[in-house]
Amino acid sequence: MVATDLDTSRMSVRGLWKVFGPDAARIVDEERVQQNSKGEILERTGHVIAIKDISFDVGVGEVFVVMGLSGSGKSTLVRCLIRLVDPTEGSIFIDGEDIVIYDAKQLIQLRRKKMGMIFQHYGLLPHRTVLENVGYGLEVQGIKRAERSTMAMEQLKRVGLESWAGAYPDELSGGMQQRVGIGRALVLDPEILLMDEPFSGLDPLIRREMQDELIALQGQLKKTIVFITHDLNEALKLGDRIAIMRDGEIIQLGTPEEIVTHPADAYVGEFVRDVTKAKVLGAASIMQEAESVVYEWQGPQEAVHVMESNNTDHVFVLGHNRELVGDLSLHEATEALERGATTMSGAMDTDCPRVAPATLVEELAPLSAQYDHPIAVVDEQGCLQGEVHRSAVLSSMAVSTVAAPADDGGGAGPAATKK
Ligand SMILES: Nc1ncnc2c1ncn2[C@@H]1O[C@H](COP(=O)(O)OP(=O)(O)O)[C@@H](O)[C@H]1O
Ligand SMILES: [Mg+2]
Repeated sequence: MVATDLDTSRMSVRGLWKVFGPDAARIVDEERVQQNSKGEILERTGHVIAIKDISFDVGVGEVFVVMGLSGSGKSTLVRCLIRLVDPTEGSIFIDGEDIVIYDAKQLIQLRRKKMGMIFQHYGLLPHRTVLENVGYGLEVQGIKRAERSTMAMEQLKRVGLESWAGAYPDELSGGMQQRVGIGRALVLDPEILLMDEPFSGLDPLIRREMQDELIALQGQLKKTIVFITHDLNEALKLGDRIAIMRDGEIIQLGTPEEIVTHPADAYVGEFVRDVTKAKVLGAASIMQEAESVVYEWQGPQEAVHVMESNNTDHVFVLGHNRELVGDLSLHEATEALERGATTMSGAMDTDCPRVAPATLVEELAPLSAQYDHPIAVVDEQGCLQGEVHRSAVLSSMAVSTVAAPADDGGGAGPAATKK
């Protein structure tokens, strides 16, 4: 949802394992060479392999989504990232420092300054007001009441709750309570936000609203976000990249477009089965070369000629640098000629719709439906890149028919596809 700079990685996870049980380290050593299934290990040894040899990087300003079914290890992973759970093995570099070897004092600093966490269950303090809840982290840091209130109020405005400052959490709806949770995390101005299914408890409508607000907030704040969800649509909407987990492993890591168009295996295929490509594909991926174009100075006579030879009833009219000037229909062009016009200026539609290459097909579909001609795709300079036909829009709106490859039968799944 924002431009990211993956060359600058904020967080690097390397060879991370978390095994629950009394003899966790031994199980890691055994697993490394044996590749048993999670169920077999549990049955034989009573240990749970929650995270199994995970490595990935999160870029500065990136929204990194981790998705998987319940029990796949998402919460354990995100809790490891802030050391609420101690990994059994591996490293987590944050801005170059391995926080796995941090001592208690360093961890406090990490949680106060660098990382904020937002949980599904908001965990607000019931006997404190909304303002006091948001300011709580500042209070812990010993910041004076007046300053605390000012800073907390600023965050409340940001999440649209300034008029609720004096209310208590139980007077608020779920969505509002989660806004308080977000404000509470943001007040400490962390560079990294960890969000564990923050919207999962909310009604679908409120949930979509919260997603939109998060996108807007992120547009201003440009935090590095690790966002956990089990909802594919949420993942596709929010994620710059998505890691898909199964049984403690990342089985695919890629952009929303890569995940939907090339699911790594049947498990991922199952997730994306019902997603229409329209949610992830941009106009550029379904456009074709514009069939009928004329330059502005070629005049209506030539425009009619181009339309007739292409068997179309419209042309795009271009300026010197191929910038789109307008759209001319056969009907308007013929009328102009009958009037004796020698230029197209009065006849063409200079307000014809145009979209950017990245515009999602989903967004351009309504335009395409109400407009008879192909939709122009223009770059930032307004130059014509191509055109999108209604038939292309419709076929990408159809539910994805990406065939998932047959499962390999082994529990491990294929290696993560990493960029
Ligand atoms: N404290 C714990 N002790 C033992 N097993 C745990 C503990 N926490 C999580 N697990 C197990 O680890 C696996 C991953 O759980 P979790 O990270 O909560 O998954 P998710 O968030 O994807 O639902 C599950 O099999 C779960 O039962
Ligand atoms: Mg969880």
